[in-house]
Amino acid sequence: MPASNSPIIVALDYANADDALALTDQLDPSRCRLKVGKELFTHAGPHAVSMLVNQGFDVFLDLKYHDIPNTVAKACAAATELGVWMLNVHALGGQAMMQAARKAVGAAPDRPQLIAVTLLTSMDQTTFEQLGMQGSINDSVLRLAQLSADSGLDGVVCSPQETAALRQQHDDKFQLITPGIRPENGDQGDQHRTMTPAAAITAGSNYLVIGRPITAASDPMAALSEIETCLIADNT
Ligand code: C5P
Repeated sequence: MPASNSPIIVALDYANADDALALTDQLDPSRCRLKVGKELFTHAGPHAVSMLVNQGFDVFLDLKYHDIPNTVAKACAAATELGVWMLNVHALGGQAMMQAARKAVGAAPDRPQLIAVTLLTSMDQTTFEQLGMQGSINDSVLRLAQLSADSGLDGVVCSPQETAALRQQHDDKFQLITPGIRPENGDQGDQHRTMTPAAAITAGSNYLVIGRPITAASDPMAALSEIETCLIADNT
């Protein structure tokens, strides 16, 4: 059973486990989930993931696997053993890779959610064309999301701008996970195309990845409460 039914995933972008744990000590596992990405994982390893799982948090292991099917399947099986709630692969690894990943996470009711990254949101049209890819980025995102669904995956990571079109293409069971979220009047930081938490949910997101608006707040739990309040207010 998931520890939380919150749509909020707090991005733990830290260079060591101590800093991450100093934050998670202030958070309640029933009120948010956590994302561990390449930085924290490379510094602190699977042990840090296990500690967070043992603290009772749902952990999204954001390592974006992209390799031959056999290697990705073994990595996904290892992540499943760690007890993570969600993990991801690159859709550009292709259908055979995604199907192998899906098989590796198993069929248990509490298996991790397996999602795909379609195209990185940092990719612009020039970079896209340099890679020999044709058409528009938007069309590729929709096509790669469909390929992910056809491969048995549970959803995709998407930018706030892609959410509505993806939600039109897929029913509610297909999970849309959206970073680039900023509270109304919040500091944009290095994010360019942001959306408020409530607008992203209205557009069809299931989960919101939120880092600095919570992790850099002087009172992270208060920042989380404010976001929860906005979501409830928008829902009534
Ligand atoms: O601090 P902030 O809310 O900007 O953090 C967003 C998190 O979501 C970071 O961990 C970032 O790496 C991740 N992310 C993103 N944009 C993507 C994919 C992931 O900002 N397209």
